[in-house]
Amino acid sequence: MTTTPLTLSPVVVTGAAGFIGSHLTDALLAHGTEVIAIDRRSVHKDPVAARNLADALTNPNLAFHQADLATDELDELDELISGARIVFHLAAVPGVRDSWDERFRDYAASNVVATQCLLTACERAQVPRLVLASSSSVYGQTSGPSTESDPTYPMSPYGATKLAAEHLCMAHAARPDTSTSVVALRYFTVYGPRQRSDMAISRVLAAVLSGVPVPLYGDGQQSREFTYVDDIVAATLAAAAIPGEVGAETVNVGGGSSVSMLELISVVGQITGRKVPLTMEAPRAGDVEATRADLTRAHALLGYSPRVELRDGIARQLDWMVKQPSPQSISEPSVGEVVLR
Ligand code: NAD
Ligand code: UGA
Repeated sequence: MTTTPLTLSPVVVTGAAGFIGSHLTDALLAHGTEVIAIDRRSVHKDPVAARNLADALTNPNLAFHQADLATDELDELDELISGARIVFHLAAVPGVRDSWDERFRDYAASNVVATQCLLTACERAQVPRLVLASSSSVYGQTSGPSTESDPTYPMSPYGATKLAAEHLCMAHAARPDTSTSVVALRYFTVYGPRQRSDMAISRVLAAVLSGVPVPLYGDGQQSREFTYVDDIVAATLAAAAIPGEVGAETVNVGGGSSVSMLELISVVGQITGRKVPLTMEAPRAGDVEATRADLTRAHALLGYSPRVELRDGIARQLDWMVKQPSPQSISEPSVGEVVLR
């Protein structure tokens, strides 16, 4: 794996209070990197943000700033990123199935408008590299492993906003006057400790622990390339280290294999020794049949190979969940219910 340019302190992490952003922040701090963390959640009022950043907030190399990238003043943003060598842009409203209806306004603002504001600020501040957290959801329905040059037909409003964010990055990187190069990483369904409570593995494990059934959408034959969060963090750090002449790159980051929901449920049953309580529900709009990543480019550009097997990763997530003070009491706010200052 390519090493991180740790000398390039400070770095900015947007979405730092979230699931993946908090792991990235922890990894950077562990390397001794100074981190300017930006998130619209309050680490005082939002229990998920407080839990995710609990360790990081005790580290003197972390400066946390509560700011909404879509609406707050640009002057403030300029000040925050000035001097940064790398901006890791993870802030977004995630989740495929919740992106319909009036909630789309928040997706559009946080995933598209915020990305444009941040790119413009990066150019003003001459930040050399922005790494974008993009998504496998840009591909839509697929019939085999997705390569980065495949056509993109998102099946959900969320996927459309992530593709728009990628296109904004590419447009900025093509400007003749820019000094900001961009690497867009297409993460494939990420899991591990702190996983969002709306996501499948989190819900399946919560169902086993609580006995309250989890809804299975569709017939369970849909498959996902689940990717352990430590692998995602390793690839994200490596993306910061690709040489500067990169301009713009798009790279898949996956877990190395794709399993159906029924296979996933069977693995959870074997690990826990318990039957997963399920209710069968209709398929949900926006969900695709299958995701699978071709990792050739990730290997060539990032030196990336996934290290954590699904069974091991699920065991680690379960271990983390059972150690939580009250696993069922902390859940993500619905879109639009973020606790603000
Ligand atoms: P998350 O919701 O846990 O984290 C996202 C963070 O962004 C949250 O803390 C949120 O408060 C913050 N945020 C949202 N809008 C903001 C705004 N306008 N201004 C400032 N902060 C804002 O989600 P996650 O699962 O950690 O996802 C992180 C990134 O990775 C997202 O960009 C997501 O689209 C992408 N991604 C995630 C997955 C996955 O499986 N979790 C897969 C593919 C891509
Ligand atoms: C995940 C993230 O939530 C998105 O933010 C991200 O962009 C996307 O991965 C990605 O890879 O790009 P998703 O694949 O839907 O989206 O991940 P899960 O929420 O873990 O769902 C996986 C599968 O489980 C889906 O087929 C879903 O329908 C199913 N599921 C989920 C259920 O059957 N029941 C549930 O309660 C939750």
